[in-house]
Amino acid sequence: MPKYMRLTKQDRAILEGKEGHGRQRAMEILETLGEIFEADRLIPIRSAQVSGVSYKNLSDAGLEFIAELAQDCRVTVPTTLNPAGADLERWEEMGVKRDFFEKQTAVIEAYTTLGIKPSCSCTPYYDVNIPKKGQHLAWGESSAVCYVNSVLGARTNREGGPSALASAIVGKTPNYGLHGDVGRKATVIIEVEKGVTDLAALGYNIGGRKDMKVPYFRGLDTGTRLEDLKPMCAALGSAGPVALFHVEGLTPEAGKALKGNPDIIHITKAEVEKTAADLSTTHGTVELVAIGCPHLSPAELRQVALILKDKEPRPDGPKLWACTSRASRKEAMAAVKVIEHFGLVLCDTCMVVSPIEGLFHSTATNSAKAAHYLVKDGYGNQQVRYGTLEAVLALLY
Ligand code: F3S
Repeated sequence: MPKYMRLTKQDRAILEGKEGHGRQRAMEILETLGEIFEADRLIPIRSAQVSGVSYKNLSDAGLEFIAELAQDCRVTVPTTLNPAGADLERWEEMGVKRDFFEKQTAVIEAYTTLGIKPSCSCTPYYDVNIPKKGQHLAWGESSAVCYVNSVLGARTNREGGPSALASAIVGKTPNYGLHGDVGRKATVIIEVEKGVTDLAALGYNIGGRKDMKVPYFRGLDTGTRLEDLKPMCAALGSAGPVALFHVEGLTPEAGKALKGNPDIIHITKAEVEKTAADLSTTHGTVELVAIGCPHLSPAELRQVALILKDKEPRPDGPKLWACTSRASRKEAMAAVKVIEHFGLVLCDTCMVVSPIEGLFHSTATNSAKAAHYLVKDGYGNQQVRYGTLEAVLALLY
């Protein structure tokens, strides 16, 4: 008997296995999660985003779990998928081995059988899964969670792969944390010194601080636009558990986010610059330039093309991976053509979830999140050179 959760008659029927084994397993996951976080009930969701797609992270055990679920249940809300371990059309050009690709294909097929759209992108909020303010969701992928909460004003906790999938199957999520107004209030004010332009490094510095929950940023450059916050979302979510932040005068819930007198932290330009410098483990030559973490939007693809236009690749220079979604690639084809003079514009995948460790040893990136993961054993084992978009692209020509 659950202690905290009030289950409806239908919830209980699912839990007792009256709607099949798959739905029962999904409900068991949600009930356990709800009890751990002392949720009062399950609430309906509008969509789900499922992470845990790359075969590199899933392995055979994960594949079997998904394939088993796919035998007797389906998702009941619109659901999209995070990036996989390879571009499903250009895996050979990436250098990915056939056996990895075949396993990856089996994963995608199992998810597709479950009724999930194989979008394989961490930015589905641009095109195929666009949440609206106030909607309840169950999304995995920390950068996307932070983006839809902070920039779009939708409501989701930071789900893991299994819980997002369970919610997609049941169509509900436990009601706690960021689903309620209280959990969305700012817990600390971050006063940013004038002149800080590297929002990814800013997010990485703040996100890595102890007990950071819902920061409220004050003092960002007045020209900052909502779309400029995407790298900060990824950095905050990779350095620590932050899944929502507010920016004074910019993000949709900032006006109501302050209550009481939260502590104030001052952060200087010099501190942010040091964080950026510390993200690099090499300043030498690199084998790969990897951008698109999170996946590039059509506007960002055009920005990259503008920088590379009329330039020629350096002989013996690094290779390029520019990661994006299939929809964004299609929308910005003219830009893609310019960029592909220098390397690959990849879909379905990214530098972190691909088997990059078998392909390159050193990578330059403009993403604090990618820099964070790529140096780690099991994620990339790379020497990393972190810099602005302009700086890492300049290594190519
Ligand atoms: Fe997306 Fe991969 Fe970065 S999933 S946020 S591009 S690590």
